[in-house]
Amino acid sequence: MEKRPFIIDCDTGTDDAIAVMAALGCEDIDVKAITSVNGNVREEWTSANNRNLTEYLGIPVEVARGAVLPFYPRGDYYGDTHGRTGLGDVVIPTAEHSEFSKDRAPEVIRRIADGEGGALELLVIGPMTNIAIALSLYPELAGEIRHIWVMGGAVRGGNVNTTAEFNIWVDPYAAAMVFRAGIPLTMVGLDVTEQAILNGEDEKRYRALGTRAGVLTADILQYMFQRNQKGGEDAMMHDALALAAAVCPQCLEFKPYFVDVECQGVYTAGHTAVDVRGVSGRKPNAMVATDLKLDRFKEWLFRCIEGCGRS
Ligand code: BDR
Ligand code: CA
Repeated sequence: MEKRPFIIDCDTGTDDAIAVMAALGCEDIDVKAITSVNGNVREEWTSANNRNLTEYLGIPVEVARGAVLPFYPRGDYYGDTHGRTGLGDVVIPTAEHSEFSKDRAPEVIRRIADGEGGALELLVIGPMTNIAIALSLYPELAGEIRHIWVMGGAVRGGNVNTTAEFNIWVDPYAAAMVFRAGIPLTMVGLDVTEQAILNGEDEKRYRALGTRAGVLTADILQYMFQRNQKGGEDAMMHDALALAAAVCPQCLEFKPYFVDVECQGVYTAGHTAVDVRGVSGRKPNAMVATDLKLDRFKEWLFRCIEGCGRS
């Protein structure tokens, strides 16, 4: 079967790195490019992490730099969830044999979409700034992207304010533009990703793979466990779960809803307003993940990481 062409747009990021490795190891998809964006840490770090990661794994993929600022910057929001560099305390060698793409993220998306004749899918696991800029420069792209798989938002309860999830909160204007673009879209939000938690047994299993991807995943998990012991979030696979939605839909359950984004608000900026009761009278514009089959997801993720780097 022909592999589905994908671009991963990400702010790598501890759990982004695991999602990228899973995507590179997933036999159903062909990662055409990785485009980097400001988010968990500054864009220069997310870009460097993507380039270092692909070179370390020995998988040649185009890596592009991307948006440095969201549309409406609100000051310094880089927390310590992903450490100073984005990969916690995990260090991978600095890439020496590869270069960043000559194009920035929006141009890469444009070029690859052109070449794929409507088949390109986007896995968007950071703030949506690059995608919104691409849509602003080239509105016709909306008709050329088969599907956008989003890690972002929440039906109920945020992780930045009472209602907003981080990726949407960083750049709500970008997210609003993407949700309104008319592109088939699946939203995988905190309602499910906060249940996608790996534990010490999982960490041992990944380490036992003995591959670069396996050991790196284990090291990132170890960092997440320590973070959790210090009061930070658990080893949540937010971003890999959005990939699972795309290639292992049996791992989740979905419902069609109308979703829009609150761009401003004293308490609610970045909130994804999900019309669960149909009170808006608007037609659904997104499939929203509502439940997770954790064991199935864990097994699927393990198989992807196992496949990463295997030629
Ligand atoms: C999202 O924010 C980041 O911390 C994670 O990488 C994920 O994309 C979860 O809110
Ligand atoms: Ca992310």
